[in-house]
Amino acid sequence: MTARIISGTETAKLVRERIAQDVVKLREAHGITPGLVTILVGNNPASVSYVTGKQKTARDLGFYSVQDDQPEDISEDDLVWLVEHYNKDPRVHGILVQLPLPSHISETRVLNAIDPDKDVDGLHPMNLGRLMIGQARFYPCTPYGIRELLSIAGIETKGAEVVVVGRSNLVGKPISMMLVQKEAGANATVTMCHTATRDLGEHTKKADILIVAAGRAKAITADMVKDGAVVIDVGVNRIGVTAEGKAKLCGDVDFEAVKEKASVITPVPGGVGPMTITMLMQNTLKAAQLAVKG
Ligand code: GUN
Repeated sequence: MTARIISGTETAKLVRERIAQDVVKLREAHGITPGLVTILVGNNPASVSYVTGKQKTARDLGFYSVQDDQPEDISEDDLVWLVEHYNKDPRVHGILVQLPLPSHISETRVLNAIDPDKDVDGLHPMNLGRLMIGQARFYPCTPYGIRELLSIAGIETKGAEVVVVGRSNLVGKPISMMLVQKEAGANATVTMCHTATRDLGEHTKKADILIVAAGRAKAITADMVKDGAVVIDVGVNRIGVTAEGKAKLCGDVDFEAVKEKASVITPVPGGVGPMTITMLMQNTLKAAQLAVKG
């Protein structure tokens, strides 16, 4: 079997068209433009590239958008002050602090300083707690993008064996919690695997839907995948430079071999990545809509 390749780029376009229409409606009905600030500390090339993509998409959608670049040596107190400043700015509905932060800054303290109503990244403990009890307001953007991709591709999750590889707060834990909820687009049996899992392949071979956020290039090989599985590759590994001087990327899945076994697979690049950015826009729009309701 050769897998159907689901394009995150194309799916993201569809979702963005819907968002663009809702932005116009919000402006016409209430005179409000969604506002997003992205705070970037330092100049890690991957983070610069992600934040540039987020800001470009926000501008394309007609958002009020601010990119706030801060030096690598900014103090934790100054960064928290900056977040609190944007908490009070009525033009800003969403605040995103790009991770990772330099090691002298506590990510927990900075994320906790974001007003939960402006936490469009969905990483504040209040929003992660709400997600866990099925009362989510903002889903973290990558898990949200994965759920939308599955749903738009028409993949049934109810009763499916889902195996998640990776237990990060950004992807592994929230996607597991989202897909286990008793609701449409979820209701799966979820297994989480991580670095202490004894035999990873024993678990992944049972997956109807395999979601890989391991952070290691080609961690999943064809022998670890069931025939006909749906494979979602969240990994972004920089493995060199292309002829055009751009970063050469590969996922956490051995794409060429696994696509001959899976029924559906996402590519890297052009899979989950564009969906992550798009769901950030969806969350920012929602924050603006909620601000109208007060
Ligand atoms: N770094 C990599 N992915 C993300 C994300 O979704 N949000 C933030 N804030 N930082 C990231």
